[in-house]
Amino acid sequence: MNIEVIHGPNLNLLGRREPEIYGRATLAEIDQEMERLGRELGVRVRSFQSNHEGGLVDHVQGCAADADGFVVNAAAYTHTSIALADALAGVARPYVEVHLSNVFSRERFRHRSYLAAGAVGVISGFGVDSYRLGLRALVEHLKAVRKYEST
Ligand code: DQA
Repeated sequence: MNIEVIHGPNLNLLGRREPEIYGRATLAEIDQEMERLGRELGVRVRSFQSNHEGGLVDHVQGCAADADGFVVNAAAYTHTSIALADALAGVARPYVEVHLSNVFSRERFRHRSYLAAGAVGVISGFGVDSYRLGLRALVEHLKAVRKYEST
């Protein structure tokens, strides 16, 4: 199983970006942890970050043929990007939306997600654990689908 982790804008600043909200883990540390957890779960995990909406769309389109599903923290594009939502719908792979912070306890503009309706589920507010939980949930979902399809 191949899982793609997608990180949106400004997540490259993790570790020094508003640590009281996003914690102290860097993006490299999160990526390493996702790879480690992937090995534990028996899946291959690859990560990609871009500050550009089109870069994220291109990546989703480009990697989908080789991806079974996505863990997506689209960051601010969560709340604005119809293009990214369309790309994820267009490639028709299951995805879990994750956020480090609890977006629902923050400003109103963060309460809307263009990605949530198409997601298997949304995990928000658990820091790096949101990514871990997202990966575990996605792998469980994919296994359940495979089991169902093979019966
Ligand atoms: C975020 C929440 C978004 O509202 C914000 O724009 C981010 C990070 C999170 O992980 O908590 O950049 O997705």
